[in-house]
Amino acid sequence: DWIMGDYIEEAVAKIRAQVGDEEVILGLSGGVDSSVAAALIHRAIGDKLTCVFVDHGLLRLNEGDMVMDMFVGKLHAHVIRVDASDLFLGKLAGVSEPEAKRKIIGGLFVDVFKEQAAKLKAGDGGHKGATFLAQGTIYPDVIESGGAKSKKAVTIKSHHNVGGLPEQLGLKLLEPLRELFKDEVRELGVALGLPREMVYRHPFPGPGLGVRILGEVKKEYADLLRRADAIFIEELRNFTDETGKTWYDLTSQAFTVFLPVKSVGVMGDGRTYDYVVALRAVQTSDFMTADWAELPYALLKKVSGRIINEVRGINRVTYDVSSKPPATIEWE
Ligand code: XMP
Repeated sequence: DWIMGDYIEEAVAKIRAQVGDEEVILGLSGGVDSSVAAALIHRAIGDKLTCVFVDHGLLRLNEGDMVMDMFVGKLHAHVIRVDASDLFLGKLAGVSEPEAKRKIIGGLFVDVFKEQAAKLKAGDGGHKGATFLAQGTIYPDVIESGGAKSKKAVTIKSHHNVGGLPEQLGLKLLEPLRELFKDEVRELGVALGLPREMVYRHPFPGPGLGVRILGEVKKEYADLLRRADAIFIEELRNFTDETGKTWYDLTSQAFTVFLPVKSVGVMGDGRTYDYVVALRAVQTSDFMTADWAELPYALLKKVSGRIINEVRGINRVTYDVSSKPPATIEWE
């Protein structure tokens, strides 16, 4: 609509004025905020923006390719894709404690990103070197880091947080979404031509599948989980309620968790002894408390049937009926 059109024009002018003829780096995660920031900055300065997309090997099925198709294929943005899955999986081998896993993933992520940013800062043939780091910080993040939120006495889960990176890298900060709320960021994304499915995606944690594989992370587990989760998400998008809304849109967050335990099953006239997954779907307005979603039995039935038949190696599917508190949304 025209209001968003005007907003884009103004935001583009502001970015151009701030950046001048300098160059910008942005860490693209595939999430809503960094994607919309990338699309907006690209609209403003084109090839003077370089996005760095770190694939830690803990992304969802085809997620890396989808991000590249969108940003390189459709928007023609300059994106450096760093395949760091071997590095991450190597460092995670033998580690099963959730906080230890989070620290490893968060720490490596910063290391890999910094290495790329340092190269881009130095510049090369066609590029004279970046001076800005762009971030998809939105208004609620600004309030949160301002200390308005009461500090919890106990850290339940350490979220990895790239605050402080611009100073460490000696780059100036560019945060074009700082004044926007989440729903405004989404509208802006759609107006910039990003697909609705991308802009209205459920949140995905920074450590990715690393916190959805209980205990030690292994590539074999991640591959099984990716396939099971893709089936769950596909069926959430297929099933609708009586108003025609999809169950994906009717839930706040939904995903699959890999349980590294084996249970006995029967297939044809054979015995199976395979892994278990749990489906998790929640309703929440703020992610601080959440109720498990009352998904239709027909949906659960379809998903469990498909996962067990299509994903060899998983022979049992369970549904998580725990609310937050006392459970958390993610299992780790
Ligand atoms: P919990 O499991 O604490 O999750 O109830 C609340 C929300 O936060 C997300 N989450 C994370 N997001 N980095 C993130 O960016 C993290 O380390 C992380 N841990 C949990 C979770 O997906 C849910 O939306």
